[in-house]
Amino acid sequence: MAVDSFATATAALRALVDEADRYLATLPGPGVADVRAGVAEWRQGPVTPAVATTANSVVSAHLPAALALLGLDRPTLSLAIAEAAPALDWVSYDRYPPADIGPSFARGHAYARIIGDGATIPARDFDLGLFLIAPHVLYRDHHHPAPELYAPLTGPHGWRFAPGAPLIMKHAHEPVWNPPDEPHATKVGAVPFLCLYGWTRNVDLPARVMPADDWPELEDLRLEP
Ligand SMILES: [Fe+2]
Repeated sequence: MAVDSFATATAALRALVDEADRYLATLPGPGVADVRAGVAEWRQGPVTPAVATTANSVVSAHLPAALALLGLDRPTLSLAIAEAAPALDWVSYDRYPPADIGPSFARGHAYARIIGDGATIPARDFDLGLFLIAPHVLYRDHHHPAPELYAPLTGPHGWRFAPGAPLIMKHAHEPVWNPPDEPHATKVGAVPFLCLYGWTRNVDLPARVMPADDWPELEDLRLEP
């Protein structure tokens, strides 16, 4: 990476952390303060922009639409994400057995750590990142020891907090706090799911899928825009 582009990417990543924290400060509910405390602890760390080799296909296909929607009501955050996105290392979560998590989620999501182990800003046992899922994908019921804040930047999307329970619709900017090992699932609506997420501890412990017998109908379901 050339010196100029390194400096530009570094500035974009710092600006994204600042903008994400400003956004989190506007949200109600549990977990927001915990994530902001982690951001405050780690935000001054060194920044290492990712050197993208090939574009992530989920990001190419769905991030522009998600950011266009976000730009309607949070234009500065949308712009900050757009400018930092090329300097982030977008990957798939690879710790689920493929048969458990299913092919549509496995092929239909990407996430990028902004702060965390191996991220642009390194941190111990704390993650802040962006999470993107294609429209209509079901992120099957799962749980993990990490306490987790989702701050959805698009919506509406469907949620549930017990396998087999009915979906609850939540709009953009309605945060979801998942205490350690509490089950949760997300059914993406008609628009791409984009969120800021925070894991406040236990980030190295894997997530696990929880079986439910209604996945086929939820995977076929098309939620209204
Ligand atoms: Fe989760």
